[in-house]
Amino acid sequence: MREWRVVWSRAVLLSIMQPMTLAELERKVEELRAAWRAALAEVTDAEALEAARIRFLGRKGHLTRLLSSLKEFPPQERPHAGRILNQLKREISQAIEEKGREIEQREWERRLAAERYDFTLPGKWRPLGHLHPLTQVRLEIEDIFMRMGFDVASGPEVEDDYHNFEALNIPEDHPARDEWDSFYIDDTHLLRTHTSPVQIRVMKSRKPPVRIICPGRCYRRDTPDATHSPVFHQVELLWVERGLTMAHLKWIIEEFVRRFFGPGYEMRFSADFFPFTEPSAQVHIRREGGPWLEIMGAGMVDPAVLTEVGYDPEEVTGFAFGLGIERMAMLRWGIEDIRLFYQNDIRFLSQF
Ligand code: DAH
Repeated sequence: MREWRVVWSRAVLLSIMQPMTLAELERKVEELRAAWRAALAEVTDAEALEAARIRFLGRKGHLTRLLSSLKEFPPQERPHAGRILNQLKREISQAIEEKGREIEQREWERRLAAERYDFTLPGKWRPLGHLHPLTQVRLEIEDIFMRMGFDVASGPEVEDDYHNFEALNIPEDHPARDEWDSFYIDDTHLLRTHTSPVQIRVMKSRKPPVRIICPGRCYRRDTPDATHSPVFHQVELLWVERGLTMAHLKWIIEEFVRRFFGPGYEMRFSADFFPFTEPSAQVHIRREGGPWLEIMGAGMVDPAVLTEVGYDPEEVTGFAFGLGIERMAMLRWGIEDIRLFYQNDIRFLSQF
């Protein structure tokens, strides 16, 4: 049984392995060429192309199998057989390459058509931040006075009683202290209620002439409303020198207001009282037709203050003012509620 099967299969093999004639080979090559062309015509993408390549040129592909039959030909026929097989192989390889390029090009065009860019569309808008309106106003005020020859000084926000009150001629139990409702830190320290204590610190550390401004935060125990905030900003100004008078003070203020606001604003001086100035004044500003708004207290430095810091009031005189930064901003932009400055609402801030 087993032997029979071996004998049978050998016979079959022998019949199959009958050497091919050249004519047969040429016919097979033609068939294969036709089959290749038909297969190629069906190919539309890179994957199908690769599959076709493997089917014809792969290790077990149709053409590869034919090539391995070369050795069956007698030596004198082999060159011819080799030539026609190689000719087909080149044809197929070239066609694969061309088709590959074609597919790539088509894929590229498809993507170009799909991913269409409209270069006329507006770009993405990323808003740029800018300085807070109060900072803008402070810098502008500094700039105006620096051009007039003033230095910018600073002092601590946590002050002691002495600098905030006593040295400014406001002794304990003086009724004027009530004007500055204070946040006390301990028995003798408080959040400064105004920038005036910097006057004392500067005069104690310099000889006259002194010409400074000092911008900074101030604190008062006020209930917030449209015109009051427990934290706000002032710019203090102090000029001490031989021969200064109220006329110089008035000129400086007028010149400053003119430079800051330009035309269209009115200014009004009136008498006031501060323990550290004599005489004292307050300055109101209004936009033409608008309501008057007090922007500063001012006056000639009281001789008692000059004496306190070691200056001789017979030799030098001085003047000073304390200006509200918020008020300046409110006047400039017509803002009616001081609380808007501290709410960090972008809709408000982005207007400046
Ligand atoms: N310090 C005062 C206040 O906050 C304002 C002031 C008035 C400042 C007169 C001065 C001045 O320098 O001379 O109410």
